[in-house]
Amino acid sequence: MRKVLGIDVGGTGIKGNLVDIDTGQLLGERLKIKTPSKSTPTNVLGVMNELIEHFEWKGKPIGVGFPAIIKNGKTMSASNIDNSWLGFSARKFLEKGTDCSLNLVNDADAAGLAEMHFGEGKGVKGTVILITLGTGIGSGVFKDGVLIPNVELGHLKWKDKVLEKYMSNKVREINNLSWKTWGKELNKGLAHIDFLFSPDLIVVGGGISKKFERFSDYINGTKCKIVAAKMKNDAGIIGAAMSYTLLQSTSKE
Ligand code: BGC
Repeated sequence: MRKVLGIDVGGTGIKGNLVDIDTGQLLGERLKIKTPSKSTPTNVLGVMNELIEHFEWKGKPIGVGFPAIIKNGKTMSASNIDNSWLGFSARKFLEKGTDCSLNLVNDADAAGLAEMHFGEGKGVKGTVILITLGTGIGSGVFKDGVLIPNVELGHLKWKDKVLEKYMSNKVREINNLSWKTWGKELNKGLAHIDFLFSPDLIVVGGGISKKFERFSDYINGTKCKIVAAKMKNDAGIIGAAMSYTLLQSTSKE
């Protein structure tokens, strides 16, 4: 069995678990630690080292999903994470600071990898878009199972801002929106994405995918089928771990 520690860095929590990357199975209990309020590289590294210690994983392989554009091991955007990550050689910094061999991947791309291999996207031909609804909105886009990395649909211009500022789960929570109000707004965004890409399937991921049936009735504006992620919020951890072998060669600086 090939085991990798998957770590999913989010705007509110940093989660980790050991993953059997050949089956996509989680091994044991996941651990979630709050994202430090100042989410600088040093502070995030500190939490990652807590996870490594907890799983007794020093010196072993890690895959990290991160809420930013990842280009050649560098973090190239910082919407829901400290600005000091912008243009930062994150992979090298985290690898050195953890003493583990490490791959870095966009968090939504990671969730998409898991769903394409072991979840709702398995065997689906054509264009599949996974949308994560959490602190921000992320997207993983696949054509015939192949990832087109770093597509940022949460940053599509929407009214006077961008899509994620109207439709993320965080927006629902802080404004105390009803499932209906939020669901109807989300429906407009997903219908727009459907029109732009004509996907064959949209998969809804992120923490909110556990509650998909509460708002799925309002999501009726897409031509394509739309489903909740099979692995729900765990897709991020599983895909991050999988990226260690699947994407390593393309994501090094
Ligand atoms: C970031 C994406 C990320 C998403 C979900 C967005 O704000 O730009 O890279 O995938 O949040 O975390």
